[in-house]
Formats: sequence, structure tokens, C-alpha cells
Amino acid sequence: MSYSTLRIERLDKGVVWVEIDNPPANAISDALVDDLDALLSELEADKTARVLILASAHPKTFVAGADLKMMTQNASKYAGQGGAIRDAASRMQRVFDRVAKFPRPVIAAIHGHALGGGCELALACDFRFMSGGTIGLTEVSLGLIPGAGGTQRMTLLLGRAKATELIFFAKRLSKEEAEAIGLITKAVEPEQLREEVIAFAESLSERAVFAMGLAKQAMDAAVPLDHGLTVEAENFERTFGTGEPLEGIAAFLQKRPAKFLKDAAAKA
Ligand code: COA
Repeated sequence: MSYSTLRIERLDKGVVWVEIDNPPANAISDALVDDLDALLSELEADKTARVLILASAHPKTFVAGADLKMMTQNASKYAGQGGAIRDAASRMQRVFDRVAKFPRPVIAAIHGHALGGGCELALACDFRFMSGGTIGLTEVSLGLIPGAGGTQRMTLLLGRAKATELIFFAKRLSKEEAEAIGLITKAVEPEQLREEVIAFAESLSERAVFAMGLAKQAMDAAVPLDHGLTVEAENFERTFGTGEPLEGIAAFLQKRPAKFLKDAAAKA
């Protein structure tokens, strides 16, 4: 199959290197969500694909999160249509959940910024290697909440206190900071990222990858996420009712600080 936003490389030992290539910002558009969905179906059926690596073709960014330009267009397009924003966001959440449930190991190779949905995609992977840029759930700085599994997976990975701090303050962490708190598996040098991730993937591939998939499924059963993901999707949509995304996203696109306090005072 061919994909408009993904580049696929089949390497030795059943390792599949996938680069997300969605210029200009490597943001998550509808086309990228559709491509990821189709790729997961292709690779799930192909048992020779033993380890999946998600990387990026963008020079500075792993994934810049949800496409904010598309989101503002959709918000006005969907205005007054109950549930439409939630449905659009839920598709991204569902596809990231497929990444998390992929029945063999998945590794994120992060060479640049992994923000918002980019961080959520990385959180859906089993391992995260990072060589540059920043990582974090930045949605609250835009008046949104993480809507593609981030509220659930960040909390599960790091605990409620640390997740609260990172999500409320929309922190962007360096690879060293992310490694120190266990958000990433390993910080590596930029020129070694590809080599190191492929060597790690090969060492996984030489082991019993189907057993790993079944172990993953059993570990996921310890804390089923279905209810949390539903609440997250509903609350993602509810943020639009607060008026905060209107200010937060506009401020980002206009390259100025957001003025939430002024906005709240004006509404009071
Ligand atoms: N959606 C849509 N467009 C985006 C985007 C996104 N998530 N992230 C960046 N862009 C656009 C910018 O608006 C800018 O467009 P312009 O050239 O028309 O002004 C272009 O991509 C380059 O971004 P810029 O910020 O100028 O580049 P940078 O190299 O200085 O920074 C990032 C790159 C990714 C660190 C920065 O753009 C950023 O913080 N993006 C937002 C990330 C985020 O919070 N995502 C969560 C979304 S829910």
C-alpha cells in the first residue's frame, strides 16, 4: 500500500521503520490519522512485521500535535453540531489506542519536538528514545486538554502528581528532563538515534514478539482505559464551551501569549 503522509522502510529482522511526513509542521491531519489507521491494519495482518518504529521525516519536529489550523476551521464548520468536535477528536484517540494495542512491540524514535498529540503518540508506544527537541502535553496552554489518550497514559506512566504538574503547566521537557522522570526510555545523541533504535528493535525482534504482544494485552487489562478515554473525549469537546481554546489557539497562531485571565474577566 502507499500512504501520502508516511514513508515505510522494511529493514532486516522484521523491523519496520515508519517516518511521519506531513509538511509543513508534521501536525496530525485527518489524512495522517487515516494513513496510520490503514498502516496498522496492514502491519497487524503481516506477521513478518515484528517490531514497528515510529519516527519523523521533519527536520525539527517529531509530531507537532493536532493540526491547530484544521481544528479552528473545523470548530467553525461544526459549530452547533452536537458531538462533531468530539467525534473528530475521538478518531485520533482511537487510532492512537490501536498503536498502544498493536500486538507486537512499538518504539518511538523522537529526534525533535513531540508536543500535544505528538507526545500522546509517543506515550502510546512501548518505548521512547529521544535525541532532541522537547516533549510534553501542551494542550492546556491552548485552552484544550489532551484528547488522544494523554490524560490516561501520562497518569499511568508517571503517577497523578507528576502528570498533574506536567499537564497543568503544559511543560515542554528536554530529553534529559524526560529521561530523569521516566517519561522516555533513553536519551541518545542525535547522530546515534536511528542506529541505536534499530539495534534495540532487532534485539526485541530476536525474542518472542508474539508473547510480548500477549503480555501487553494482559498488562493493559490491569487498568482498562475505556471509561477514561470516553471521559477524555467528552471533556475535550467541553473545552470549546469554555471559550478558552478560542483565545489559546488564536494566541498560538498569532505568535503572542494567551490572555486567559482577561478573557475570563470579560465574561464574568
Ligand atoms: N498545527 C498547525 N500548525 C502548526 C502546528 C500545529 N500543531 N505547530 C506548528 N504549526 C505551524 C505554525 O503555526 C507555523 O506556521 P506559519 O509558518 O504559518 O506561522 C509553522 O508550523 C512553524 O511553526 P513555528 O512555531 O514557527 O516553528 P518552530 O520551529 O519555532 O516551532 C514547534 C515548532 C512545533 C515547537 C511549535 O510550532 C509549536 O510549539 N507548535 C505547537 C505544538 C503544540 O502545542 N501542539 C499541541 C496541539 S493540541
